[in-house]
Amino acid sequence: MNELKKVDDIVDSANKDIENADDIESINNVRNKYLAKKSELIGLMSLLGGLSPEGRKELGQRLNEAKNTIADLITLKFDKINERALQKKLEEEKIDISLPGIKHEVGGRNPFHVVIDEITEIFIGMGFKVASGPEVESDRFNFELLNIPSDHPARDMQDSFYIDENTLLRTHTSPVQARTMEASKGEPIKIICPGKTYRRDDDDATHSHQFAQIEGLLIDKDINIGYLKAVLELFAKKMFGEKREIRFRSSYFPFTEPSVEVDISCANCGGKGCSMCKGTGWIEILGGGMVHPNVLKMNGYDSEKYSGFAFGIGIERVAMLRYGIDDIRKFYTNDVRFLHQYRKKA
Ligand code: PHE
Repeated sequence: MNELKKVDDIVDSANKDIENADDIESINNVRNKYLAKKSELIGLMSLLGGLSPEGRKELGQRLNEAKNTIADLITLKFDKINERALQKKLEEEKIDISLPGIKHEVGGRNPFHVVIDEITEIFIGMGFKVASGPEVESDRFNFELLNIPSDHPARDMQDSFYIDENTLLRTHTSPVQARTMEASKGEPIKIICPGKTYRRDDDDATHSHQFAQIEGLLIDKDINIGYLKAVLELFAKKMFGEKREIRFRSSYFPFTEPSVEVDISCANCGGKGCSMCKGTGWIEILGGGMVHPNVLKMNGYDSEKYSGFAFGIGIERVAMLRYGIDDIRKFYTNDVRFLHQYRKKA
């Protein structure tokens, strides 16, 4: 039968067209060409009515088979094209993880803060607690309660920045002594207080109008100056090495009696004398002494029963010695070239 041959030809041609179609548009065109109502294949259906029952059955079957085959092939191809398109899109959108990232500079801590932590840790190891007080301080705490009345000549050494007549930027961390005594109400005390301090000073390599101290205060029964020496000696060894020794030189502070200035043996020359210790073999790092009975009394302690010691360590001085820094201003100007040198240590 001629029509059967025609169906075979249509299927052959459809096969080729499907094979050649390589995008959604062309496969849709193939679908229209072979399966739309006006297509040749569907057109052949109209012939069925004029055929004998056997002929109708045979052609009808072939037409159906052909229709299904073509429809299946189109669907397969359609899926394939879709999948290829997706694959291509994924490839185009792939993130190239081999590209080097943007490098972030890792900062370092200012050696100033590193040293504060180191000192603090040493004293915490000896059982001291950390206290704090305000940087904007009253005349009363900064001077009066430390046995420095308003006409006292010791005030000349500690000129500061005044907010008003009775309020100033604290000149030392010692007001925290008075504050802690006031809050402790006659009970034993064992604190340190690291913090910023200010004095009216002309800035140079060893002076800065802003600097920092760590105050220490211990009050209890039967405390003598031997305790102060033992505590400071341990501090010096932990901070600057086992071989360091300390020496006391008598000094004067209105709030301690007796008062001392404390030197450590020079870490640079081991005590022989060099340019760092100006040939003396010793370097001064702090002031201290036994808490003056007047200070104990003014701040609510029975000076007959209690005694104690106090000290004030210059933080920058310790940091400069520890890390070989030659200019105090470097701590505050935040020059990254300076800070980067301490990145690893910090
Ligand atoms: N506050 C003193 C100063 O700044 C140091 C000090 C503290 C001395 C505690 C004795 C006791 O110079």
